[in-house]
This record gives sequence, C-alpha cells and structure tokens, in this order.
Amino acid sequence: MVHPIPLTPRWIILYTTILLSAISLWFMRDDQGGFSSLNSLSNPFSSNQCPSSCRSDPFSQRGILTYPSVERYNETRWIPLPPFSSDNKVKLSNIDYTGNLPPELEAGLAEQLTARLNQQEENQLADTVEWEWLKGRLVVFLDDRNNVEQLCGEIHGKSESWGGHVGGFCHVERIDLTLVWWFSYGLVDDESLDLWRKLEARPITFENRIKEVFLPAMKSDGIDRTPDLMVVSSLFWDEGFIRDYPQLYPPTPPLPPDHRNRPGFLPDQIQWHQSRLAALFTYLREIYNQPDLPLMFRTRHIRANMNYGGGLKIAQIDQGAREVCEAMGVKLFRWGDLLEGVSDYYDKDQHFPLGPNTYLFGE
Ligand SMILES: *[C@@H]1O[C@H](CO)[C@@H](O)[C@H](O)[C@H]1NC(C)=O
Repeated sequence: MVHPIPLTPRWIILYTTILLSAISLWFMRDDQGGFSSLNSLSNPFSSNQCPSSCRSDPFSQRGILTYPSVERYNETRWIPLPPFSSDNKVKLSNIDYTGNLPPELEAGLAEQLTARLNQQEENQLADTVEWEWLKGRLVVFLDDRNNVEQLCGEIHGKSESWGGHVGGFCHVERIDLTLVWWFSYGLVDDESLDLWRKLEARPITFENRIKEVFLPAMKSDGIDRTPDLMVVSSLFWDEGFIRDYPQLYPPTPPLPPDHRNRPGFLPDQIQWHQSRLAALFTYLREIYNQPDLPLMFRTRHIRANMNYGGGLKIAQIDQGAREVCEAMGVKLFRWGDLLEGVSDYYDKDQHFPLGPNTYLFGE
C-alpha cells in the first residue's frame, strides 16, 4: 500500500516545522492585534466590520473603572466583569485588598498602552515590534481639543495649534502617530446665523469649516491624507444651539413662557440633530471618497453644569445620536459611559481635567 503522505523521519520533521511556524504566526498576529479600540479596527483598518478573528473589545463589556488614587490616575483600568454565576459564592473575609487581580481577570483586560507609552522613551522603543500597528497612523478627532492635548502631553507628543477654536495636531515622533483635532461649533446648519455666538470666528457650519479651514490646514502641515480613524462628537455645542435658536430667531406662534428652562427637548429638536449628524457622517465619507471610512462617535459624558435642564437635554441628543450611528454603521466610543461617577473630574461644561479620563481616552 502506498501512503498518500510520506511518513519517513525526514518528512515528519518537515511537517512539524511547518505546523509550529503556522501556530507561531497565528499567535504573533493576535499579539499585534491587541485589545484597544483602534486596534480592533486594524484588521482590516479600513472596514467598519470587525472580522470574526478580532478579539472582543473589553471596553464594550460590562465592567468597572478603577484607579488606586487621584495621584495614580496613570493606573486607570477598565475591568470587564467575568460572566456571573450564582454558584460563585464570594466571602468578604477572603477579599484581597492589595488590588492585585486574579490571573483570569487580568487576562481579559485591555493592555495599558497609554501608561506604557508614557513610561517608554525613544531608545527603548527603537527596535520593538509592539507598536508597529500604530506607526504612521493618522487619527482625526472632529471633537474637542481637550482630550487630545492631554493625551499628547502624557505620551510626550509635540502639539501644534492652528489657533483657539480652530484645531491643531499632535505628533508622537517615536511611534510616528498623528492625532488631529478639528474644532466645530456643533451641527449648525446655516452660515448666515449671525446672532449665534457672534464673537466666534466664521465659518460655523461643518461643511464650510472642513472645506475652508481644516483641509487647507492639514495640507499646509503635510498631513492631508485619509485618516485611519475618525472620531466625531457633537453634543455640547448643539445643546446650546438648539436651546438658544428660538430665543434668537423667535418662531410663530411665539415660544411658550419659560421655554428655555423646559426640562428637555422636543422630539423634532432631536430629529433635527439626528439629520445633521447623519449629514456629517455622509459628508466625511464623501470628502475622503471612502464609504467605509472608519468612523466612531464619542458618546456623551456627564457634566456638572445642569443649567436649563442641560443634563437631560444632553442625554436626549445622545440617545438620538446612538440611533443614527447604528443606522449608519458608525461605532460608538463609549468613553463618557465608562466615566460615569468619576465625579472628582466633572467639569462645568465639557472638559475633564487630566486624569483617569485621559488614560481611558488613550486606550
Ligand atoms: C504612575 O505614576 C507613578 C508616579 O509617577 C509611577 O510611580 C508609576 O510607576 C506609574 N504607573 C504606571 C502604570 O505607569
């Protein structure tokens, strides 16, 4: 009988070598895949759909945010909770108060990429492959400057501003990562609204700002390429705009008394925000001529200032935005959800000071 596969010792060595190489390649690929949100998009980077080979994203799982003290905010971690089982009886007297995690929990955590980048300096990074997946990447935040600038400082990037309320970028030379922020006044839909924030520079619609301000600035700084990821947020300025618009441009019939203090928005106001947000996603995909441009939306966080029912109003437009994202294949960046209760850091309006939020943002 003739064996279809030769089984002489020489052939067996060859088969074993091929098998071992295949196994190590498989693991190397997974290691580089890592856990972070940006990372989970990286295979392939240009698709909104994560292939089945992606590991699950710990930040999308139910979990708890921890950091040991206000001073050690750089040790912030998101710990996804293990699946609950009613058989698992826990005794308070057995709790390990050192904060060391059991290996099975540790294994499910996102890597501490921001902390590692913070610690490591150029010479240490020179020949590591661990950051290869980040090298040369461009991430654009159509969002607030605050988080990007804080992260940039922590990981020793160099930031350059195009002016207050305009935008700028951060370059982290040792990993050749570029983070750009574009500042917008929300989803304002009419350039001729001269009563809305009259002291702010024009243009105010995102269409004109992107075309006339951001893209030319990117070009003159040599970063005018298609972003590997765009993260959008537009809530806090919109809340003010939607609230103030009928005061500035009184409707007929006239506004009900004390309308501004109404505890929430009306469904039509939420739908206006949804339609503008959808127009923004479409616009971004069009300017880069990429229907599957990797897009994320940063959801709301809780702020301290609740004037004019601002807490509920933000929550309402955030709900509408999540609906749009789902309909348009835009992933959610649930930073604000994960920060609920980190009240030492709540700001009057939309900025958090440097802290656990910065590390969470970086991951
Ligand atoms: C956090 O910062 C402290 C103080 O600078 C330092 O001792 C500690 O090693 C840092 N932890 C991490 C995870 O980088």
